[in-house]
Amino acid sequence: MKVTVSRKAHFNAAHRLYNNEWTDGRNASVFGKCANPNYHGHNYELIVSVKGPIHPETGFVMDMKVLKDLIRDEVEEKFDHKNLNEEVSEFKTLNPTAENISVVIWNKLRPKIEKQLELTITLYETPRNFVTYTGE
Ligand code: NI
Repeated sequence: MKVTVSRKAHFNAAHRLYNNEWTDGRNASVFGKCANPNYHGHNYELIVSVKGPIHPETGFVMDMKVLKDLIRDEVEEKFDHKNLNEEVSEFKTLNPTAENISVVIWNKLRPKIEKQLELTITLYETPRNFVTYTGE
């Protein structure tokens, strides 16, 4: 028997999507407003889900206080109110799309969560657009 527990978090961050090897025109046509050279912000909503067996002594899959602190230290403090392109080292050469941000977050959290627990990252860039990464 496995149960999924989830914690929601939030951060505001600025980004710009572009490919250095493309013309401004191609960047504008592929990335639209997200290619704006002066950056723009999103209110990102993050859901971190952890799936595994219920521990018989605690009744928990994972202590949510531990998960909360992990998200604060690894994601919120590093991303909140930052310009992702300029201030977060992972995005110096990686386009900060929701897809890539979710992979970066998964990679930060994975080593800090017990091996037998499955980790899923869901990241909303807008209320209607969201991505999911499970490490596959
Ligand atoms: Ni954008």
